Amino acid sequence: MENLTFGNRIMELRRFPMREKESLRPWDAADEYILNTLLEEPAADGCRLLIINDNFGALSVALNHLRPQLWSDSFLASEGLSHNLDLNGFDPDSVPFVPADRLPNGPFDLVLMKMPKSMAFWEDTLLRLRPLLSEGARIITGGMIKHSPARAYELLETIIGPTKTGLGRKKARLAFSTFDPELSLPASLPDYIYTLDGGLELSNGPNVFSRDHLDVGTRFLLNNLPQTEEPLQVLDIGSGNGVLGLALAQQCPKAFVLGVDESYQAVVSSRINAAKLGMGEDRIKFQVNGGLQVLPAGSFDLAICNPPFHQAQVVGDQIAWGMFHQSRRILKKGGKLLIVGNRHLGYHVKLQRLFGNCRVVASDRKFVVLESWLAGLVG
Ligand SMILES: C[S@@+](CC[C@H](N)C(=O)[O-])C[C@H]1O[C@@H](n2cnc3c(N)ncnc32)[C@H](O)[C@@H]1O
Repeated sequence: MENLTFGNRIMELRRFPMREKESLRPWDAADEYILNTLLEEPAADGCRLLIINDNFGALSVALNHLRPQLWSDSFLASEGLSHNLDLNGFDPDSVPFVPADRLPNGPFDLVLMKMPKSMAFWEDTLLRLRPLLSEGARIITGGMIKHSPARAYELLETIIGPTKTGLGRKKARLAFSTFDPELSLPASLPDYIYTLDGGLELSNGPNVFSRDHLDVGTRFLLNNLPQTEEPLQVLDIGSGNGVLGLALAQQCPKAFVLGVDESYQAVVSSRINAAKLGMGEDRIKFQVNGGLQVLPAGSFDLAICNPPFHQAQVVGDQIAWGMFHQSRRILKKGGKLLIVGNRHLGYHVKLQRLFGNCRVVASDRKFVVLESWLAGLVG
């Protein structure tokens, strides 16, 4: 557990998904910079406040008294928000969470934003934000300098209005923008559509993984998916635009696939892609979730996964490890986990440790497809 100080308040916060030995903090120096700036100029009182991309609720908990709304594409952020509110003695529903496939209830006078990783998502967020701003609205954006490309500031200037950046503090920077209602801009960024060699057409919302091309790792796993006439219950973990699950459902006509992803926009795109193929929920279903805890134990023959290698801007294999771990519980005895990964990530070591077995299905210079199976009783 970590404590964040805001004025005379000390808040306890946790990251999500929760891990026993967590070494990462649930906020960063950009959160602290935003909060300290508000303390220095308490003009926020009485403002209609919107918070965007607050990863685990640090800003929302600290500013709970201003009754903000939180707009985010992350299910884990929504879990972090309600848990951290509760942990600090607030009603877990006191900050309405608005998923990124919907719009918050404006207008807003003050917006506090954290820069996301995807610039397409950033552009789309700013475009969709414009009609929600009151005249004279102030927008404060925080980001860690190493994760804040020049393009992010350009987008603030061209989509929101005049923007000034402040001094760096603890490797974080803030940008201050004032809303220019006169700009004539599109309402949002359109989905990006590409078609795979086999004809599968994929729509990709702004925050969808590898939105403008097929990821190389995904391609490698696609080439190694099973093809069978047997009935199969399949789980696509971190399903993104649904590409893996959809391809599998196409080549296994008796398979049922469940895809789960923590991104609301990813799930919207995957549902669009299933509909394009004419596949109903009897064949493939997608749902937003941040973990597999809600799924019944021992219920899948196969889990497929191209694991994420970052959470927001923090790179690491902690999410992948959690997915592998949880997949043991949901597999039937004899059920298999099939994953793709960069060779250097050493996933085979983890899988061997977890399952007691791991087979290399395919490998090239960069990637490896690995398979583990549930041989014994679920532990
Ligand atoms: C490397 S991408 C793979 C997407 C898709 N399967 C593909 O191959 O194109 C990993 C996906 O996992 C999702 N993700 C990250 N953390 C997650 C979590 N805790 N639970 C569910 N999905 C998660 C991300 O949103 C992302 O869509």
